[in-house]
Amino acid sequence: MWGGIAPGPGPVRYRARLMSAFLSTHTRSHSCGALRTGDAGQTVVLTGWVKTYRDHGQAIFVDLRDREGITQLVFDPSFSLEAHEAAGALRSEWCIGIVGEVRSRGGKVNDKMITGGVEVWVKTLEVFSKSDTPPFAIEDDVDTNDTLRLKYRYLDLRRPKLQKNLIMRSQITRATRKYLGDNGFLEIETPFMVKYTPGGARNFLVPSRLNPGNFYALAESPQIFKQLLMVAGYEKYFQIVRCFRDEDLRNERQPEFTQIDIEMSFVTEPILQTMMEGLISTLWREVLGIELTLPLRRMTFAEAMDKYGVDKPDLRLDLVLCDVSAPSAKSGFKIFESVVAGGGIVKCLRVPGPAEKLSRSVLDGLTDFAKSFGVKGVAFARVQEGGVWQAPFAKSFSDEARNEVNRIAQAVPGDTLIFVAERPKVANTCLGAIRLHIGEKLGLIRKNEWQFMWLTDPPLFEVDDATKEIAAAHHPFTSPRTEDEALLDTEPEKVLARAYDLVLNGVEVGGGSIRIHRSELQARAFKALRISEEDQRAKFGFLLDAFKFGPPPHGGIAFGLDRLAMLMTQAEYMRDVIAFPKTQKGSDLMTECPTPVSKKQLEELFIQVRPDLPVK
Ligand code: AMO
Repeated sequence: MWGGIAPGPGPVRYRARLMSAFLSTHTRSHSCGALRTGDAGQTVVLTGWVKTYRDHGQAIFVDLRDREGITQLVFDPSFSLEAHEAAGALRSEWCIGIVGEVRSRGGKVNDKMITGGVEVWVKTLEVFSKSDTPPFAIEDDVDTNDTLRLKYRYLDLRRPKLQKNLIMRSQITRATRKYLGDNGFLEIETPFMVKYTPGGARNFLVPSRLNPGNFYALAESPQIFKQLLMVAGYEKYFQIVRCFRDEDLRNERQPEFTQIDIEMSFVTEPILQTMMEGLISTLWREVLGIELTLPLRRMTFAEAMDKYGVDKPDLRLDLVLCDVSAPSAKSGFKIFESVVAGGGIVKCLRVPGPAEKLSRSVLDGLTDFAKSFGVKGVAFARVQEGGVWQAPFAKSFSDEARNEVNRIAQAVPGDTLIFVAERPKVANTCLGAIRLHIGEKLGLIRKNEWQFMWLTDPPLFEVDDATKEIAAAHHPFTSPRTEDEALLDTEPEKVLARAYDLVLNGVEVGGGSIRIHRSELQARAFKALRISEEDQRAKFGFLLDAFKFGPPPHGGIAFGLDRLAMLMTQAEYMRDVIAFPKTQKGSDLMTECPTPVSKKQLEELFIQVRPDLPVK
């Protein structure tokens, strides 16, 4: 007998009736994380999964788990013979309900559990369902391969760490909705299936059965629609929205991810950023109990590139890069001199001493590391007494140039200087990555800090080094800075944008801009991008038309919810805050998708698959 309530094998209908009887006669009184010593003496009803089962001969001990925590159950024959007998059959991950009495554990408190001061002596046991032996133990620190975890995602999701992450993610969305709602934002949905517009991320395409040969794109963001909502007079819009991008994936990227997407009318950067700082500080206060100091720091794109080599600096690390091109250009050291003469730069990273901290093997490893950025070599100098360098090229470097480099880098004896000489973009990117690599190796990145910054004034356009082709750095509706408008027609590559990113601990968690709302300015931006009038109409005709009908000045931003949740939960991987994530190859190992489809389905969609590829 199962605890005197649900009998063993028998007619299915009979068992089902009894099982539902438990739930109709007993209401769960507490979660498995709720009971404390003050509850001793109470009769409680708990439900959950068998985490562990220990038969101590006299009594059986079961750790019962639900999403809130774990409670120890005791099945003692002197308390309930029936429950004790039934408990003998329990195995891990069976789903059960119990009625029992809370007792203090007295001196045998388990400090590792929040409920460790109590245990529940079980009077009645109900087995809701049995479980096969799970393919891996459902515990946080079990070393199981990722493929298995993703195949049995629903079991992995039972792990306390993932449950904690998803609970926090839910708190983030709830607090976001409340803050934005309280501040007059309307939550409005926009289509997922949209017109394909080139540029930006690569789109997923959806064939239209009703329009043979035509395709929708899955929206990479609601960008154009939220701007149209501003034209329509909605003033303050937000949406917690899924976006789709067929990108090459890495840790901070998923093919479908979620944005907290926002647009506001009649705003300037400070108005919008202050409102967003309110959102971020509310999240940190309500979800993490941390009070952030506002306003958050601002840094221009130019300063970020110069000091950190990237547009998303991790400010938990104090190391900075410096530009030593000027002294290097007349140092006598031919390699540096020729790079500068050819339009390149020489950047230097000072790693504070003592020198032994930075071992020879770490330094030697940097050359290979740098190769992945297309950089041929990295030079090092150890600074000694009197500012003299110990380096293979020290003799080639004039004293005057060396003293100037030491002065710029603020080098003192014991420091190590690391140099990269290259084209500006490559030198910055490579030494910026070396900065992080060394910071990680030497443990210089402070792990318990929240280093936010707004990155401001980025370039409006990106110019491809090789082809010299010009493209919108953000999207083509981003406004240039007013003071740079004149450069649009002459030197577009010098125009800076009214755009901003929010960076947290080296991760871009949000990005947005003030948009162009005057059609004359939009036409000049398109011209700079070399988009013909015909193309403008074909791609963005509906938006340009809308902008003929009194568009308000407006701007917006989108935060990556997955990235925010990853940082707030301190998860190592973004997939740890997504219930059903995709792998690096964009597959779902649990449902085994994507899959080939049948010939018939393809025919319905007027699609042919190459003969060498599989069809069901
Ligand atoms: P953007 O493309 O910068 O801007 O995206 C905004 C934020 O979304 C997050 N993000 C991602 N997160 C996970 N996986 C991805 N593949 C991924 N791609 C982007 C980042 C990023 O900062 N429409 C504009 C916003 C605007 O201008 O208002 C946009 O989509 O955290």
